[in-house]
Amino acid sequence: MSEVVRLERHDGIAIVTVDSPPVNALGAAVRRGILECAQTAVADPAVKAIVLACAGRTFIAGADITEFGKPTQPPALAEVVAALENSPKPTVAAIHGTALGGGLEVALGCHFRVAVKDARLGLPEVKLGLLPGAGGTQRLPRAVGPELAVKMIVGGEPVGATEALKQGLIDAIVEGPASGGEAFACRVLAERRPLRRLRDDDSRLMAAKANRSIFTDAVAAVTKRARGLEAPFAAAEAVGLSLDTPFDEALKQERELFLKLMNGDQSKAQRYAFFAEREAARVAGVPEGTKPRKVERVAIIGAGTMGGGIAMSFANAGIPVTLIEMGDESLKRGLGVMRKNFEATAARGGIAADEPARRMGLVTGVVGLEHVKDADLVIEAVFETMAVKKEVFATLDKFARSGAVLASNTSYLNINEIASVTKRPQDVLGMHFFSPANVMKLCEIVRGAKTAPDVLVTAVAVARRIAKVPVVVGVCDGFVGNRMLAARSRQADKLLFEGALPRQVDAVATRFGMPMGPFAMDDLAGLDIGWRSRRDRGVKSEIADALCEAGRFGQKTGKGYYKYEGGSRAPLPDPDVETLIVDACARLGLRRREIGDNEILERLVYPTVNEGARILEEGIAARPGDIDVVWLYGYGWPIYRGGPMYYADQVGLRHIADRLSYYAEATNDPSLEPAPLLKRLAAEGRTFASPAAGRKSTQTLAT
Ligand code: CAA
Repeated sequence: MSEVVRLERHDGIAIVTVDSPPVNALGAAVRRGILECAQTAVADPAVKAIVLACAGRTFIAGADITEFGKPTQPPALAEVVAALENSPKPTVAAIHGTALGGGLEVALGCHFRVAVKDARLGLPEVKLGLLPGAGGTQRLPRAVGPELAVKMIVGGEPVGATEALKQGLIDAIVEGPASGGEAFACRVLAERRPLRRLRDDDSRLMAAKANRSIFTDAVAAVTKRARGLEAPFAAAEAVGLSLDTPFDEALKQERELFLKLMNGDQSKAQRYAFFAEREAARVAGVPEGTKPRKVERVAIIGAGTMGGGIAMSFANAGIPVTLIEMGDESLKRGLGVMRKNFEATAARGGIAADEPARRMGLVTGVVGLEHVKDADLVIEAVFETMAVKKEVFATLDKFARSGAVLASNTSYLNINEIASVTKRPQDVLGMHFFSPANVMKLCEIVRGAKTAPDVLVTAVAVARRIAKVPVVVGVCDGFVGNRMLAARSRQADKLLFEGALPRQVDAVATRFGMPMGPFAMDDLAGLDIGWRSRRDRGVKSEIADALCEAGRFGQKTGKGYYKYEGGSRAPLPDPDVETLIVDACARLGLRRREIGDNEILERLVYPTVNEGARILEEGIAARPGDIDVVWLYGYGWPIYRGGPMYYADQVGLRHIADRLSYYAEATNDPSLEPAPLLKRLAAEGRTFASPAAGRKSTQTLAT
């Protein structure tokens, strides 16, 4: 029998157990194993019913993604599902952990499904740019009705066992998966329950068959946010087949849609992103087996926008937080904003009505830095100036317990300099959250020159616990994300002086798939911050300065590069701004020209990539995938384009290097000269993804 699937018999019940760590994915050996065990059990007259369960942390978490793009080994997943469904003896899937993708499709092939109470079930293929390709789009609507099926398949979010029971996706909630499955199988036999083959059961489809708008309304609701993506629309089309196409023909069409997506560029990029995200959690240059420090109590210093957002993230994860301010007023204000945000989420149905109170109950607001004394992790989120940060860290050194991890949420400043004011620089690092911190998933973990390996590993583990995506980066101005963003902003600003308008630049960025363009983003962040910093440094920027001098600070004043009406966040082009830009150019004696969308796109994206190449070469990021993860989760880079470095590899580095050289000369801008690494890889016909493309190996990340 198979090494990864075993068959045992208990009093007439065959237990088929998949044991293929880490997540029992459906690789060829698992598929073969299930099929063989099921066939053996069906053929064995002593077996009366079959239970499919899994060893380890989870039920089958889906197809084996590492097999995608390679020739398929038999048996096909659909054959495995059909064998379970066609079994003349009852088949029961016994679920714990997660039943995802192909895993849930296998369970849907079983006549009955039971799950432990914290199990989750879903078809998340859409997140990999795919759709369920083994009958999931046809069986799920028959199990739970087409409206919920399309919501689950197009949205890709799993449901918990309680909801699954309510909706008819599972038949019972059990204590232990295998024992519960066995007991359930005995009940089925004792009660002589008819076998429920979903393929033959159209009862849940009837309402939507009679009134198609039930289904089309559900599709419209779930595809609203799917701009630019192919999979959600293909998935909705496939679910729609359940209403009007015979089952076998629908399976054939589902397969065709699946293969088209599988071979398309979007899914390739999304699968790349899946693995890049997991790779990013492996800290380069840290000894194997380094254990994280224990973190049970967290203190956050500063209850402003960032501090409050970070505190909310901890409360969301059920971790107690001490929120520290310097005065009662600011503390009260900060706590008030947090409560309002939680309540707004509850009002939208995002969390249960009693959750805001429960989550606020995890937050203790206090005044005075001495309250850090019990914390295992302290995150400083105070004003972004070196002097203030140093003062805070010097004080922390006095009060924080020995061994506590001391993190700064700085977005630009030198962690080594901050660490230098403490007697424990090995415990200091950066944890750079992105605004709004309770929503954005990225956390740049900034490794100082003296940061201890277990401190780094602790920060990564904590970030994952609060559902963030951590990426370890080195010390430089702006780290990975903001440093690359600055390269893009420089070009966006220059384009205004050369002839473009904010709406044109932003439209190119959003058509590419970014959630907003650079100028709308500036308006959101507030233009006054940059203005003040330019004044301090004695730097001028004719257009941005003129906007601020006119009191246009962005969304907060209702006017910036755009105007905002009636409290709306929708940017509206403003003729006053266009006049202001044209006047500024005239004052400077600049001749404006017509700039095409292609040039705008190249000048936004290629300099970003170029800065990424420098970052890689300097070892500020360990891998190109880390840079991509930063952009996917920190700036909303479209997932179907994989990230800037992946995108550059698809476009071709030679082309990008040539275009950068061209723009460097055409616009007299030496900063656009291709970075040495980019130039070298382009000349060698290689990609960023080719092995050891960076200067430093992943074992020697720069500090
Ligand atoms: N195939 C191959 N490897 C997988 C995998 C899969 N489906 N799912 C997870 N893994 C690997 C991860 O790469 C990771 O490997 P490393 O430890 O080497 O990095 C390991 O399993 C553990 O994964 P996580 O770190 O993500 O662990 P977690 O506990 O945080 O999450 C999980 C577990 C919820 C299952 C999560 O891994 C997940 O969401 N996996 C993807 C599930 C999925 O998308 N399934 C659908 C696949 S497509 C499909 O099934 C198509 C079809 O119809 C045929």
